[in-house]
Order: sequence, then structure tokens, then C-alpha cells
Amino acid sequence: MIKSTKSVGIIGTGSFVPEKVLTNNDLEKLVDTSDEWIRKRTGISERHVLDEDVPNYTMGIEAAKRALEDAGVEPEEIDLIIVSTETPDYMSPSMACIIQGAIGAVNAAAFDINAACTGFIYSLSVAQQFIANGVYKHALVIGCEGLSKIVDWKDRNTCILFGDASGAVVLGVVDEGYGILDLFLGSNGAEGMKITIPNLYISEEEKKKRPNGKFNSLWMDGKEVFKFAVKAMSTATMHVLDNLNLDISELDFIFPHQANTRIIDGAIKKLGITDDKIHYIINKYGNISSASIPVAMDEAQRKGKLKKGDNMLLVAFGGGLTWGSMAIKWNK
Ligand code: COA
Repeated sequence: MIKSTKSVGIIGTGSFVPEKVLTNNDLEKLVDTSDEWIRKRTGISERHVLDEDVPNYTMGIEAAKRALEDAGVEPEEIDLIIVSTETPDYMSPSMACIIQGAIGAVNAAAFDINAACTGFIYSLSVAQQFIANGVYKHALVIGCEGLSKIVDWKDRNTCILFGDASGAVVLGVVDEGYGILDLFLGSNGAEGMKITIPNLYISEEEKKKRPNGKFNSLWMDGKEVFKFAVKAMSTATMHVLDNLNLDISELDFIFPHQANTRIIDGAIKKLGITDDKIHYIINKYGNISSASIPVAMDEAQRKGKLKKGDNMLLVAFGGGLTWGSMAIKWNK
């Protein structure tokens, strides 16, 4: 259990998804694939992508503005901005600094975190500490990912899976007993080469995995990642539930990272959870990495699916390898 002085929770949510849609039928024209194969093996029907000449941070700016509006918090009242991203437009400045400048959060400290698809939970965990300890009052946590820019559009193993989007939340002090109840973070760097996106260095081995010559593209060992994902989601879930002495049946909502419907279904079956507790977005957005949890959360909130007092669980896995979970008593 987290021993903190203040209860910290989500007081505003926002998201942004680019307009342009790429359907499975569109992909049939790019690679040797079929709508049926993609839907059956992944649950994805379409994904949204940014135009090539539009930077990824533009999505984060919009999502951040919407979250601030929802929270009723002015940009000047934000003390901390953390952006989770594995697709930053610049190595420097960070995406968090770019967004800070754009929204006028002049009093905020700003930095990025890269824990791949688990990054939103990592970022929330870091921001939570600052508020719980009374150092800061408000934090903006954003998952912002433009994977279309780091996908090899000639590689059918990966290009069908990913999309672009951003989701944001504002964290603040909430009534005692509400907000973030517990969290768990895991990493295993020894298995890290199972998902790679080279940046300034690429080994000969990594080059061979990219026969089309796009050396900064995402490569993964899909089968191995699949097995890891199902296991990681179940262990991370049980970790926080055990800590809180909470039975799985007491969860009202689950926000898993959405990479493949079969991974989610495999994990929830193992845990004995029904799929009506999940707001699925993967069919229309694909895998949007660390934006998937905040985008799903924002949509569920705006559709009126969440109510005050709901027990919810966020759970994710991704490159690194990383995985993590967080239990929240919804306070909005
Ligand atoms: N269309 C048609 N066929 C495809 C294809 C596509 N888009 N992509 C792969 N195939 C082919 C493969 O080449 C393989 O053919 P082969 O048997 O002749 O070699 C066949 O389909 C089966 O491939 P396989 O890898 O066994 O498929 P799968 O059922 O494991 O599904 C993934 C592949 C990538 C969808 C799945 O492994 C997965 O989702 N892994 C985890 C991905 C993930 O979560 N990554 C992000 C982490 S955050």
C-alpha cells in the first residue's frame, strides 16, 4: 500500500485522435494481407494516422487542452507535465517541454518518460508521488504516440497493428479514500530486444531484422511478446489486488493496454473477468501504445460509463520489457 499524506486522483481527462483513417482494406493495397486476417488475429478494423508532415506533439497539445478544460484547471496552475512517449518528434526539447510552451503552462516542470506501452502507468506513478507528498498541486500526464512514423509500411507483421493518438489526464488532490490506491511497476531489460525501435545506433543484427532498410522502424518478436503480454497482465493485476485485499469481482472497470484483442481476452479469461468491464477501442484505433489507456478512459468517462466510487484497474505491458498496474477509486 502507498503510504502517502494526500489522496491523489484524476480530476480531468481529454484525448485527441487524428481524422485520417486507414482501414484494413487500405492496407491490403500496401502489403500482402487481408481484412479478415487482421480482424481475426488482432481485432483491429482501422486505425487513425497523422499526415506525415504533422508532428506528433500536436496531438498531445489538443489532448492536454481538453483535459485541462474538463478539470477546470488553468494552464498556469499546472506544476508538472509528464509526457509518456516512445515516438518523440525531437530528442530535445522533450515533448513535455514543447507542449508546456504551446499551452502556456508557465509554472510547470516538464519532462518525458519512455516505458513504451506501459509508459502512461509509469508516468502517472511518478506524478502521483509529487502530489501525494505535497510538493505539487496539479500535474498533467499525457500519453502521446505517433507510431505511423516509426512503422515500416512494407512489413505486414507490424504495419497493420499500430495507430496515432494522444490521451491526457490532470491529477490533483481528491477526497480521502479516492484516487490512486496502489500501483505496481515491473521491468525486465534482459528480454528487451524482443521489441526494438533503433535511434542513434543500430547493430548489424538489428539491421538484418529490417530488410526494407527502414532502420528506425519498430520490430518485434510477435509470438514471444504475445506470451509475455498475457502473463504480465495477469501478474500485474494480481499484484495490486493482493496488496489491497481486493477481490477481482470487486473491480467495476478495467483499462488494459490494447495491443491485440486476443491478448486482452486471454488475460481476462485467466483472471476470470468479463469483457463488459472493458471499454474497447482497439478495433477503431489499433495499438496506440501509451495513449491507449488515457484515450479509452476519456472516452468511457465522456460516454458516462464511469461513476464516482468505481474500482478501476489500469494494466499494461510493452517494450523494455515493462509492465505495470494501478488501482484507482474513481473520484469524478
Ligand atoms: N497478414 C497476413 N498474414 C500475416 C500478417 C498479415 N498482416 N502478418 C503475419 N502474417 C503471417 C505470418 O507471416 C505467418 O506466416 P507463415 O506461417 O507463413 O510464416 C502467419 O501469418 C502466422 O503468423 P504469426 O506470427 O503466427 O501470427 P500470430 O497469430 O502470432 O499474430 C501478431 C501475429 C503480431 C498479431 C501477434 O503475434 C501479436 O499480437 N503479438 C503481440 C504484439 C504486441 O502486442 N506488440 C506490441 C507490444 S505493446
